[in-house]
Amino acid sequence: MMSKTEVLEIAGNVTSWLIEAGDKLRPGVNHISKVDTKSSRNDLVTNEDVSIEKLLDGHIRQTYPDAQIMGEENKAERPQNLHGLVFFVDPIDGTLNFVRKHDCFASMIGVYYDGEPVFGGILDVMNKDLYWGGPLLGVYRNDVKLDAVADCPLADGLIGASWRQLFTNRFNLGTIGYHASGVRILGSAGLEFVQLLNGRHVGYVSTLNPWDFAAGSILAEALGFETGSVSGYRLSLLRPADYVVMTPNAMKTFRKLAYA
Ligand code: IPD
Ligand code: CA
Ligand code: CA
Repeated sequence: MMSKTEVLEIAGNVTSWLIEAGDKLRPGVNHISKVDTKSSRNDLVTNEDVSIEKLLDGHIRQTYPDAQIMGEENKAERPQNLHGLVFFVDPIDGTLNFVRKHDCFASMIGVYYDGEPVFGGILDVMNKDLYWGGPLLGVYRNDVKLDAVADCPLADGLIGASWRQLFTNRFNLGTIGYHASGVRILGSAGLEFVQLLNGRHVGYVSTLNPWDFAAGSILAEALGFETGSVSGYRLSLLRPADYVVMTPNAMKTFRKLAYA
């Protein structure tokens, strides 16, 4: 368990690194020099993903030399366990948006200690809004403290999802969306969490990697959202997961409908 003083030090460091990343990303957004594909033609990585991850990794290694780093673009050094401090880094979340529309993307860092949540930071890069906090600190948008979530039922709120899963009706998402007020699709897990933190959506469902949900889970849980795997089994921070985050009330209905 980390002390509040240690967490505050991490908060100061991580927020300043994310602000630095955003300041580097914004001017380059209209002239990206290199775009490569990864697993498919729409799974992209740019020169900026790689250089921002190197920048963030460099800061982490210099400040916390014993920490482990789970970074999206650094496949070679992925941790095999969650011992000690682990930083989850997604330098650009929503790379397809970054490349195609130069907007709607985030930079994220989630910090855990022995697998327990410590600190999450999500920078909405183009809007210059930084969401940060954790269980010991509460959650802030820049310097404004955010209220705990109102426990809204699924029927009274919007949910976020990934378009492929909605299109293929995975987890009964068509029925679940019909049961909710509707479904919205942003193309950035980080910005889907931002909708939740701002009280605009009641849930989000997607298949995600740990660096996609590490920071957002910490912030959402600190405001009273429930997180978990779609199947209800315990989530692992070491593997991809069918991931769901919802208000407790919406989660009850989601669980009844997901495999109905
Ligand atoms: C992606 C985005 C997207 C989600 C994908 C992620 P990336 O992250 O968060 O919304 O549906 O599963 O991989 O690859 O742009 O960092
Ligand atoms: Ca990414
Ligand atoms: Ca991502």
